[in-house]
Amino acid sequence: IRKYRPFPAVSLPDRQWPDRAIESAPIWCSVDLRDGNQALPVPMSIAEKLEMFDLLVGVGFKQIEVGFPSASETEFNFLRRLIEEDRIPEDVTVQVLVQAREHLIRRTFEALDGAKSAIVHLYNSTSPLQRRITFGNASKESIIDIAKKGTTLVTELAAEAEAKGSKITMQYSPESFSDTELDYALEICESVMEIWQPTPERKIILNLPATVEWSTPNVHADQIEWFGRQLKNRDSVIISLHTHNDRGTGVAATELGLMAGADRVEGTLFGNGERTGNLDIVTVSLNMNSHGLETGLDFSDLPTVREVYERTTRMTVPDRSPYGGELVFTAFSGSHQDAIKKGFDRRLEDEREAAGEIVPWGVPYLTIDPRDIGRSYEAIIRINSQSGKGGIAYILDREHGFDLPKTMHPQVGLKIYNLADELGRELTPDEIRDAFFEYFANV
Ligand code: KIV
Ligand code: ZN
Repeated sequence: IRKYRPFPAVSLPDRQWPDRAIESAPIWCSVDLRDGNQALPVPMSIAEKLEMFDLLVGVGFKQIEVGFPSASETEFNFLRRLIEEDRIPEDVTVQVLVQAREHLIRRTFEALDGAKSAIVHLYNSTSPLQRRITFGNASKESIIDIAKKGTTLVTELAAEAEAKGSKITMQYSPESFSDTELDYALEICESVMEIWQPTPERKIILNLPATVEWSTPNVHADQIEWFGRQLKNRDSVIISLHTHNDRGTGVAATELGLMAGADRVEGTLFGNGERTGNLDIVTVSLNMNSHGLETGLDFSDLPTVREVYERTTRMTVPDRSPYGGELVFTAFSGSHQDAIKKGFDRRLEDEREAAGEIVPWGVPYLTIDPRDIGRSYEAIIRINSQSGKGGIAYILDREHGFDLPKTMHPQVGLKIYNLADELGRELTPDEIRDAFFEYFANV
């Protein structure tokens, strides 16, 4: 990724990628196997979950939420298989979600027996809407009490598990954080911290979910920044983002949240998750790469990631989905095709000139080099009735080795896009060649 550059910042004292991200990327946690899976019309089978787990490990996730083991036998058994079959690499921590309820917490620790390193993710819902509607006018105090009791039990059981050799990290989510009074969310989190007693060496993760995306991304970022500034013992806390996408701005909210000081990101491949989905980690991670930032995640073979994702979840990646979508490296417009061709030609020259130096990326209309994510620019230019003559010449040259003199471009172009117009669809490279032969035979 060294050929990419930081995107120039406008020098206002505003939010920018933290410098920290250059040396150490955010901590990424995949919630594909939990939040993603719970939102599937047909949840993954154990075999599919295992395949997804291996994929996530291969991409480079060091934290993976593997499920809600106290919620069902399947979830419990999946975690047991990971542990008993020793499938969790040394440097990967599994995370498990649990509601702040005694019997569920106990069952969760049973499922974790023998795990080398685990994050126990405790949550309860905190917003006024949830307190009023879901919990029948529950008082603020009673909600704090649920969090405190849950944390006390997690603290005790974690000590027992640690005595048997497991490393347990505590994560607490005030579910519906982004719709909760900020000072109240802070109060709950600080009461959890008082019980868990985190230190800089043994941090707690405070996950601040936008369970439902109610606000604009800048407001979400302000909430995160406010929280981080007010928090006591900030250096003992990992602030984690968990955005959903109800307003279509989950990616923007996470990016601004990172710029506002968060340390960690939860999300899923291609944004699978409840309703409009969770944060799409592929997009945020590749957006960072395209600004020259390291992320620790490897999407250099995105087509394979997409193939396993689509097969195991039975979801599809939309054609226009950033980076992964079928059409995102395709130009239909003639002027775009011309510019892209010039960009690639120029790049080849620059590369030859630089001989060994890294040439900064710069092809119009393409924010990244498709080859960096295992995609090809072979298919970038397709020809339909909107195409320009440059694009047609490019296809004839690239696909069939006919290097047409510039003087022939207008007439050959006219012949070919007339044909596309007549057929009302895109032409294949072979149809373009045949139409070219026909044109040639008649001149
Ligand atoms: O969206 C959410 O709030 C969640 C929590 C359980 C973390 O998924
Ligand atoms: Zn969620």
